[in-house]
Amino acid sequence: MTNDSYGITVSRNIIDRQRSHPEATGDLSGLLSELIVAAKTISAEVNMAGLGDFMGMVGTTNIQGEKVQKLDDFANSAIKRRMARCGFVSVMASEEEADAIPVVEGYEGKYTLAFDPMDGSSNIDVNVSVGTIFSIHRAINGGSPNAENDLLQPGRKQVAAGYIIYGSSTMLVYTTGEGVHGFTLDPTVGEFYLSHPDIKMPARGKYFSVNEGNTIYWKDEMSRYVEFVKQADKGSGRPYSARYIGSLVADFHRNLITGGVFLYPSDTKNPNKPAGKLRLLYEAAPLAFIAEQAGGRAITDDGREIMDIEPDCLHQRVPLIIGSRDDVDIAEGFFTGKR
Ligand code: AHG
Ligand code: MN
Ligand code: MN
Repeated sequence: MTNDSYGITVSRNIIDRQRSHPEATGDLSGLLSELIVAAKTISAEVNMAGLGDFMGMVGTTNIQGEKVQKLDDFANSAIKRRMARCGFVSVMASEEEADAIPVVEGYEGKYTLAFDPMDGSSNIDVNVSVGTIFSIHRAINGGSPNAENDLLQPGRKQVAAGYIIYGSSTMLVYTTGEGVHGFTLDPTVGEFYLSHPDIKMPARGKYFSVNEGNTIYWKDEMSRYVEFVKQADKGSGRPYSARYIGSLVADFHRNLITGGVFLYPSDTKNPNKPAGKLRLLYEAAPLAFIAEQAGGRAITDDGREIMDIEPDCLHQRVPLIIGSRDDVDIAEGFFTGKR
């Protein structure tokens, strides 16, 4: 990080970006600023989860069929509360809610917001990095009553996307389609400062991130790809090192900075979830936008670009291979039978 970037706050960065678009009304800037306030609230609770009453489960199960952690619930409410009357959003979707979430009447705005309030929940109680992921589209069907349609847009149409990672430091990484920019929270003043301007993902990495506990459920092509990265071949930097945190945001962030590939392919583990585990609207699509803006790539395991998939429902699951462009290209070769 260069010293002169230290003074640039995320608010200044957002305004500078807005200034470069004379037609901008400031609504997107306002939306991002409100979301950042919610993120700071969540960060404060995550960093003290062990001290407050935020460890463990709420005791309910969400639409995903997953047990809801107390921090899932807190983060979900913090974002909903903040965004429901900010005046910039017409409808929201959350991993934690079965249906589209309307905003307070009279406060409808021109954007939609899809979010995973707390990604990596299984890691909360063991103090491993977790995150919040968000995706912003323009409301094209005029919000409610067409709310759900406004949320079901392909990733290619995203206006902005990003994540906050609550790790050894709290970082915000976002894009509005003009590169990827990282900000680190100085908790002593409660400000995010530019620490990673214009992040570029190395074309090829040395890490592969996958849950090998699922090997028996994979398609053969996936097993052959994983065997490939484990083979010794100095010239191509193999064998790769295995890094799997179990928080998508943390695994993705490492690969964004150092290079590497994350894979959560389709599997036969859960017959009613043949596409694997991760969700398109608020996990795969926003991270695919970030990956492409940083020079990387994101595909499914049947050769589709994540950013081109037309969602058919709010909680649609997709196989996800995402990361360094050359690594994703090689993996694609295995999945499409070329290798
Ligand atoms: P969430 O906590 O929002 O449900 O997401 C968890 C996801 C993702 O963060 C991670 O990559 C993946 O689940 C890990 O799944 P496995 O435990 O099956 O590997
Ligand atoms: Mn998640
Ligand atoms: Mn989650």
